Amino acid sequence: MKTAFITGITGQDGSYLAEHLLEQGYKVVGMMRRSATPSTARFAAVEDRVEIGHGDLLDQSSLMRLLDEHKPDEIYNLAAQSFVHSSFHEPIHTSDVTGLGVMRMLEAVRLVCPKVRFYQASSSEMFGEVHETPQRETTPFHPRSPYGVAKVYGHWATVNYRESYDMFACSGILFNHESPRRGKEFVTRKISDHVASIVFGEKDQLALGNLDARRDWGFAGDYIRAMHLMLLADTPEDYVISTGTTESVREFCRIAFERVGLNYEDYVVVDPRFFRPAEVELLLGDAAKAKEKLGWEPEVDFRGLVEMMVDADLQTRLDMYKEPTRGFLPDTLKVS
Ligand code: NAP
Ligand code: GDD
Repeated sequence: MKTAFITGITGQDGSYLAEHLLEQGYKVVGMMRRSATPSTARFAAVEDRVEIGHGDLLDQSSLMRLLDEHKPDEIYNLAAQSFVHSSFHEPIHTSDVTGLGVMRMLEAVRLVCPKVRFYQASSSEMFGEVHETPQRETTPFHPRSPYGVAKVYGHWATVNYRESYDMFACSGILFNHESPRRGKEFVTRKISDHVASIVFGEKDQLALGNLDARRDWGFAGDYIRAMHLMLLADTPEDYVISTGTTESVREFCRIAFERVGLNYEDYVVVDPRFFRPAEVELLLGDAAKAKEKLGWEPEVDFRGLVEMMVDADLQTRLDMYKEPTRGFLPDTLKVS
């Protein structure tokens, strides 16, 4: 039985990846950092089948101890301070975790288990002020946030360790991917959660920043399959993972409100607090290499994603309130 070691197990991607690898017959070890209120909610469905190791990307010795203890075959480095907006408020912390944290993981691998297969969670945020559209593996990076800068550092550190030490190290340059498990600070989940609040009378408004920003949004459950495929390949390489479509925040709002029979223009207000000092206006990925070499394809399209997220947030409220106060509910929802 192969052992997979996942940093960021408590996050969105960590939970989907843990479920997927367990289904594939892996032993899964997840790294969690110490917290006064530790949350295993996202991977609750498989909690009893995941072994937890306590460690932190800020603490080199904890990483080495865990790798020595668990001797993994595959490592997925998903942990990061991943919220772009916060990276402007906490640039040093973000650099330390999201950038230097990768170097700490790579050093731990080099010293403890150099034959392991290593996945680094790189990001389309590295393309930032894009130099070409669509973006592919060869597109130059031009990050627009401390988070993006830190991800570029982690990306090149991974490439450098592959070239210097012949390590099986891959970077997945993943475009935005979402799900009902997405944190509520990210725009998609903020919208789906507010739609449900508005329908059940908890809130009357949704305050957002730049409605014209465009993203290539996919479903997290599709994207974690690509991570696994990268580590099963014959050679370690970097891959763009994306849907190949781009939509605006405004369009996400339109479809999300339409799902419950409401017009987003009646509820969405623009609030300057949610704008960023520098913005990434457009992302659109070309995943041709992953399709050809890994046989990877996304299964959920944009409308399917929006509806999945809105329905999940409605379902949670429906279980509490039974009746909506505005709009209507999709037929597929059930009162439990
Ligand atoms: P997420 O939900 O924000 O999860 C981040 C994880 O990192 C959490 O488990 C968090 O633990 C952990 N973490 C933060 N600081 C840590 C530290 N110092 N030591 C150990 N763990 C720490 O992120 P996600 O959406 O699942 O994304 C997974 C990875 O992919 C991240 O690296 C992200 O930057 C990258 N990425 C995401 C996307 C996307 O659209 N989702 C796209 C491209 C790349 P706590 O629960 O303790 O906070
Ligand atoms: N969060 C947020 N909140 N974003 C808003 C809001 C708002 O109220 N209003 C408009 N936006 C815009 C942001 O300015 C940005 O252009 C876009 O919505 C998406 O923002 P986020 O959902 O916060 O995601 P992100 O694109 O900045 O970063 C995510 O994707 C990256 C991959 O490109 C994160 O998951 C990163 O970790 C990931 O690397």
